[in-house]
Amino acid sequence: MSDETLDEYANGLFSSEDDMLAGLAAEAQKEGLPSIQVPPETGRLLTVCLAAVGATSVLEIGMLFGYSTIIMARALPPGGRLVTLEVNPKHAQIAQRNINSAGQSDKVSIRQGPALESLSALANEVFDLVFIDANKDGYPEYLERVLALTRPGSCIVADNVWRGGSVRDPHDEAAEAIARFNDIVSRHPRLISTMIATRGGEDAASVSIVRPE
Ligand code: DHB
Ligand code: MG
Repeated sequence: MSDETLDEYANGLFSSEDDMLAGLAAEAQKEGLPSIQVPPETGRLLTVCLAAVGATSVLEIGMLFGYSTIIMARALPPGGRLVTLEVNPKHAQIAQRNINSAGQSDKVSIRQGPALESLSALANEVFDLVFIDANKDGYPEYLERVLALTRPGSCIVADNVWRGGSVRDPHDEAAEAIARFNDIVSRHPRLISTMIATRGGEDAASVSIVRPE
């Protein structure tokens, strides 16, 4: 019997990674950035979610070198827009270069700076999909802030909500904040949510849909 894992099998069928994205990931690693871009199954989940909600406007919090940004920009229709927030100026610079070489600069607008400041400047904007993938201790506040930037039917995806199971018995600030985030998401009266395993069960992404008020 084949020892191919579910992730390998599914990514063989549905991968979101092509040669260009693999090349950008290799280049980013050479430039000293951490290799913590979304795995192919999470990229594919984002693509499916964008299609499911018919997204034309996307907000991303935490872009690293633009890997998930490019996946989502590609899934937007012509005229769609993606605003992405990145605190690290070096990451934002590399990401802008990558967005340009991926031919997605017309759709993507990078806001470099602390996410909470950029979120304040986005007041009154409405996004069809929000992807949270930034500093883990900020997740609970990001959720509260992005809820004000959604509409009924909007989708909120959050990466890294299992973190090797550390959320069950949190011993650091990141795990504690993610545990709190998961608790809020699971009980939130305005959200219909689930959690999907990634990285062979080592991590997970949560997916929420905003209910009608
Ligand atoms: C970390 C952050 C991520 O967004 C991720 O997908 C994996 C790890 C981290 O900071 O450790
Ligand atoms: Mg992540």
